[in-house]
Amino acid sequence: MFELLKKIKQQNTFAPLATDMHCHLLPGVDDGSSNIKETIACLKILATLGFNKVYFTPHFQAHYPNTEDDIEQRFSELKKKIAESGVEGLPEIAGISGEYRFDANYERKAGEGRLLPLPGKKMLCELSLHRSDYKPFESWKRYIDMGYTLILAHPERYPYINIHSTFVAEARKMGILFQVNILSLNGFYGDAAQHKGFEYIRNGLSEYLGTDTHNLRYANALMETAGNREVKKIMKKYTFFNNKL
Ligand SMILES: [Fe+2]
Repeated sequence: MFELLKKIKQQNTFAPLATDMHCHLLPGVDDGSSNIKETIACLKILATLGFNKVYFTPHFQAHYPNTEDDIEQRFSELKKKIAESGVEGLPEIAGISGEYRFDANYERKAGEGRLLPLPGKKMLCELSLHRSDYKPFESWKRYIDMGYTLILAHPERYPYINIHSTFVAEARKMGILFQVNILSLNGFYGDAAQHKGFEYIRNGLSEYLGTDTHNLRYANALMETAGNREVKKIMKKYTFFNNKL
């Protein structure tokens, strides 16, 4: 009985976040979930871990040339199908947004109000994991001038950025918010990302945590991460803004 209670408590680790604002569970549009069955299975796990609200954030970038109209349509169809499935106990599927790798094309769309932001005109954006010569600041500034608040996804995963870099200093000065991936904290992306993930959080440089769930492999890794003692300490000690979304 004690073991069971311990396990339930452990699985509930991320309840203080309440909202997951980064996942790839709209099937068939990027490298995320491959079908509705997998999406539902992942959502069940997210519910067990304490999430009661989820935003889907498919990739928008040259490699996944999704259009906002198509994504919105697929999203409403999926929501309908999930409701019809009668599966209970899932988190609320609160909305559709995107994880944008910005280029000139998206800047034009932003000007026309055609992007899919999170509530409060917040945009989750990412950089290349490999390309270090790209300086996004000028482009970022134009989004900020258009009234967007930018959230940089998983800063700990970019090998060419670290907490002491001028890149981070510049980004923070501009008001860019950061979102560390929960899985980084359990070594899912390697030692460097794990170390940096904790570092960003402990230095007050991660306003949000995201699951970045792509499929069941990620969801199962999240279950394991929920039992990580250091992760549990982080959840008790630090405040994140997920539950404001
Ligand atoms: Fe992502």
